[in-house]
Amino acid sequence: MQDKVVIVTGGSSGLGRATAEIMISEGARVVLADVDHDAGQAISDAIGADFVVTDVSDPAAVDLLVSSTQQRFGRLDVMCNNAGVFTGMPLLETSDADLDRLISVNFKGVFYGTRAAGRVVTAQGFGAIINTASNGGHSPTEGMAVYSGTKGAVVAMSKSCAMELAPKGVRVNTISPGTMLSGMVPNTPGIIEMLNSLQPIGYAANPSQMAAAILFLASDEASYVTGHDLIVDGGATAGRPAVRTTA
Ligand SMILES: NC(=O)c1ccc[n+]([C@@H]2O[C@H](COP(=O)([O-])OP(=O)(O)OC[C@H]3O[C@@H](n4cnc5c(N)ncnc54)[C@H](O)[C@@H]3O)[C@@H](O)[C@H]2O)c1
Repeated sequence: MQDKVVIVTGGSSGLGRATAEIMISEGARVVLADVDHDAGQAISDAIGADFVVTDVSDPAAVDLLVSSTQQRFGRLDVMCNNAGVFTGMPLLETSDADLDRLISVNFKGVFYGTRAAGRVVTAQGFGAIINTASNGGHSPTEGMAVYSGTKGAVVAMSKSCAMELAPKGVRVNTISPGTMLSGMVPNTPGIIEMLNSLQPIGYAANPSQMAAAILFLASDEASYVTGHDLIVDGGATAGRPAVRTTA
């Protein structure tokens, strides 16, 4: 990633922060974007990234993030549309406001970032876009209808964009993380032990394990990978738990 220019949304916490860190460790120049100004600025200062306060649900703000990055560095190599919000809500208790909020950030935010970056990278003739979905978009959890729906939509939208942009030298992929210990997960011992026990691999992921997968999708090693959804979930959606057939 030496001297590549990378934008990471949702970079103030969790996977976005880990992605910014691994990109910088590989020599990239990173622009970190987040709605959380204080944390984003502090992390950017600590790791040597630029910070642009950005609400990804605002298309004008996302356009400005991308255009200002392109103007500053003269190029854009990688766009990581990672910002997301989570709320588990039973169907019958889901309000219109809940629905709009999750769609605005998790789907529209990723769409705006894909479109804005798409304009720049297709004009250049090269670039990679990596959108963060979820294994919940493939194998939804009960009581997470809207969240799961937004993530399934991100996968489908990204695959369509991958076909459209492939002839222009641009790759579009998604990563579908499984349970990851980040700002989205309550940091309480009982919850973490429960989440660990649900993973075939035995523990919930560290964000750096996901960031390594994003790094692969962004890199030249993935030059023939497009339209792919990379599930990184410790086997959580590989199948069903064993059924005992003997007493
Ligand atoms: N944590 C998990 O178990 C898990 C599992 C699957 C997928 N994901 C996905 O991974 C991505 C990263 O989440 P995380 O786990 O690192 O959570 P996190 O809460 O630690 O980080 C999310 C970041 O997004 C930012 N953000 C929220 N709304 C925003 C907006 N409108 N504009 C800009 N930034 C905004 C937050 O301020 C925060 O810094 C999300 O898309 C999430 O849905 C997480």
